[in-house]
Amino acid sequence: MNLGLNGKTVVITGGAGGLGSAMALAFAKEGAKVAVCDLRGAEQGAEALKEQGFSARGYAFDITDITAVKGAMAQIASDFGTIDVLVNNAGINVGPDERKHVDEFSDVWWERILKVDLDGTYHCTKCALPYMKEGSSVVNISSIVGMIPLRNQCAFAAAKAAVINFTKAVAMEVAPQGVRANVICPGTIGIAITKALWQGNGAMEGLLSHIPMARQGSPEEIANATVFLASDAASYITGAVLPVDGGWTCGGFARNF
Ligand SMILES: NC(=O)c1ccc[n+]([C@@H]2O[C@H](COP(=O)([O-])OP(=O)(O)OC[C@H]3O[C@@H](n4cnc5c(N)ncnc54)[C@H](O)[C@@H]3O)[C@@H](O)[C@H]2O)c1
Repeated sequence: MNLGLNGKTVVITGGAGGLGSAMALAFAKEGAKVAVCDLRGAEQGAEALKEQGFSARGYAFDITDITAVKGAMAQIASDFGTIDVLVNNAGINVGPDERKHVDEFSDVWWERILKVDLDGTYHCTKCALPYMKEGSSVVNISSIVGMIPLRNQCAFAAAKAAVINFTKAVAMEVAPQGVRANVICPGTIGIAITKALWQGNGAMEGLLSHIPMARQGSPEEIANATVFLASDAASYITGAVLPVDGGWTCGGFARNF
């Protein structure tokens, strides 16, 4: 099947990160021109793609700063001629030491997480849409925590749930222009940071006992789902929420009792 991504311009926020770099490579392999956007490592991310013969450029900016986002999207559209796909992937969460009951949760972290995960998604969507023509699409990266909250991560749960409904609202608004918007909810993905998070005291075994497929996902598995939703193969899909979680959100018990 022709995914229709050859020669298309794909903007990926957090494009130098664990999942973002896998997405950048997956889109590049489909022949897309990739704008690797990140606070840190954007240039290096683009260089890594170029060294493999792909077309890419790096853009360093902070998605919480709407003025910077507006400038960056204008620059990307000017460099590439258009924006065909926007992947709102950049996101943050509290580390293990900051995972606290709501009455002890850090106000600073609350504000920071909402700013990056929710405001950042809003800023990038708002500033990219003027450059997105019929056939374009937005893919937002939420989390299963936006569907089924985990304890002691209230800010992340709130922000990622809001990203889901924001995506549906946008999908309704842009459908008349032939633009689609969908959201992916990754489960636990085996990158260095999450592996470290679940290490020790049987934590990994406990985690996997909730997942019917009994394993963490890979960045490539999230990247593949992102490519699919952005592609012509998903031409009648908009406003959809796609968990990519090994069955975690099925809601039943993963083990026999
Ligand atoms: N890894 C997982 O298990 C998992 C699970 C569920 C959801 N997610 C979501 O997937 C997305 C990617 O996560 P990841 O695991 O690759 O994390 P990561 O930390 O490896 O990558 C996130 C990237 O976003 C960038 N970033 C952070 N704040 C930014 C800002 N203000 N402006 C611009 N860039 C900024 C970081 O520099 C980083 O490169 C996030 O939205 C995350 O919430 C990840």
